[in-house]
Formats: sequence, structure tokens, C-alpha cells
Amino acid sequence: MKNVANLSLCDAVELDNSYSNKLIFWINGEKVEIENADPTILLSDYLHDHGLTGTKVACGQGGCGACTVMISQKDQTGKAVHRPINSCLRPICSLDGMMVTTTEGIGNVRDGLDPTQYSLAINNGSQCGFCTPGFVMNAHAYLQEHPKATEQKLKTYRRQLLPLHRL
Ligand code: FES
Repeated sequence: MKNVANLSLCDAVELDNSYSNKLIFWINGEKVEIENADPTILLSDYLHDHGLTGTKVACGQGGCGACTVMISQKDQTGKAVHRPINSCLRPICSLDGMMVTTTEGIGNVRDGLDPTQYSLAINNGSQCGFCTPGFVMNAHAYLQEHPKATEQKLKTYRRQLLPLHRL
């Protein structure tokens, strides 16, 4: 398992304003370079076409979150910013210079689970499990962005993420 959190974000690309027909981004630490990328390809389809099937697609309309992955990029001050996004709505052409992290990129049962994956599993947090990777990636992105979140903030976040599951 790659420790994506330790990768230096976007170090290989110094973004400039010059034109290029080459799309460059990273998926779970692996660099992706595509010449003349098709602007109609969505990230969820790209992931599935490249064997990353842990990210699920249910509604395909941005409503359910099953397809959530984390994207990371530097802001204008150079600080890394992590956000959960719906990969079913996101064209790959909008990912230039960004890092994409999927559920495969944070852990697995063979090499070790991420704390969010472990917590959901040990607390029976899944129902059918189809959308579980999306929940995991949303929580993972939240914790990357708020590593010192208080118990109260985590409870508020949980209520927002799981409005129908008041545990
Ligand atoms: S599949 Fe439902 S939000 Fe993407």
C-alpha cells in the first residue's frame, strides 16, 4: 500500500499558464499522463476502466455519494487542500495537476486498513456496503482537512454525512 499522505503534492508539476495538450494528474500516487484527453470522460469511468473498481457508481447524478473520492491540490499559499468530490460528475480534464485518492489508495485488508475503513468495518457501519467506499472517502477527506477536529465537530460532521443514520 502506498502511503499517499506522505507524497509531496503535485511536486512533479509546476503549473504555469502556458498551453499544453497533455493532461497530468495522479491516482493513488501513480502519475497519469494523457495526450489530447477526451473531455467527455468522467473520473468514475476512468477509474473503472483502469481496474479501480472500489469506487462505486449508483445514481450517476451527484446525489448519493457512492462515487466519492478525495482530490488534493495546493492552494494559492502552497497549502495542501483535500476535498471529497463526486467522481461520477467530474471530467478527468478538470484534474490537471491534482492528486486523486480512491479507497484503494488508503488501505486494504492485506496491507492494512485506513482508520476510517477500520472504524466502519469494526462498528458494522455498512448496510449492503455498496456506498461504503464513498462514506470512507468522504470521512477520510474530512480528517485530512481537519486533523484536529474535536469530538463535537466529528459528531456534527457525522450527522451531516449520514442524516438518515443517527447512530
Ligand atoms: S454515483 Fe451517486 S453521486 Fe456519484
